[in-house]
Amino acid sequence: MDSSLNTMRDTNLSTWFATSNEAEQIFELQKKNLEKNLSLTEKQSQWFLSLDNSFEEIEDLINDHLVIVARDWGKIVWYRTIIPLEKAPRIDFEKPLLDASTNMEYLWRPLKDYKYCIMGQSCVDINYRGRKVSEILKDLFIEKFWWKFDFWICEISENNTRSMNVHISKLGFKIIGNYDRNGTNRVVSLLPLKENMELMDTIGR
Ligand SMILES: CC(C)(COP(=O)(O)OP(=O)(O)OC[C@H]1O[C@@H](n2cnc3c(N)ncnc32)[C@H](O)[C@@H]1OP(=O)(O)O)[C@@H](O)C(=O)NCCC(=O)NCCS
Repeated sequence: MDSSLNTMRDTNLSTWFATSNEAEQIFELQKKNLEKNLSLTEKQSQWFLSLDNSFEEIEDLINDHLVIVARDWGKIVWYRTIIPLEKAPRIDFEKPLLDASTNMEYLWRPLKDYKYCIMGQSCVDINYRGRKVSEILKDLFIEKFWWKFDFWICEISENNTRSMNVHISKLGFKIIGNYDRNGTNRVVSLLPLKENMELMDTIGR
């Protein structure tokens, strides 16, 4: 087995929905990784986050069970927001993706024929990067969510080659389109949670 997977497992990583007393840690992790708070070298090697939430917005997302985290002995080392479609129209940052993706297709059917949710912002603590945190957590979340959704969608700036590498090459997200957000090309991709045949069978439920 890959030694880095062992290393990660040895850290006693625990995962699930963030709790309200973790809002501060998530807020700080986000702030540290915003474009405005990183040097040019850091931005070029690690990339950065675009969405800058207020503390209250992060608390609201946590209260709505929309933030999943990985903890190493209580320290938040990774978080990801999950945005159900019914909530996306009320979240300004997610609206452009929602609008752009509605007409995209998967297996020759428009996305609206499926049940899916948006995988929103994702960030790994700088000290835990390069240890395949996202890959390790993928199976866990598929196991927990496969019955609820047909797939997850996400958007990534095409310039964020590290994140593109992780999502497309490592996690297996499939590119279904792209759109322009404020002059930056955003690649839209999805991760199927079911086999193709099973997906075709469930369309139109
Ligand atoms: C993007 C992010 C979540 C990925 O997590 P990570 O722990 O760094 O990713 P992993 O270690 O699992 O994988 C990184 C892979 O990309 C490779 N990589 C590193 N830098 C790269 C780059 N500039 N371009 C392409 N690939 C790169 C690594 O070599 C590694 O591949 P390997 O396992 O074959 O060696 C994390 O880097 C992060 O939080 N970045 C800042 C915020 C961000 O960009 N969030 C995503 C917004 S969509």
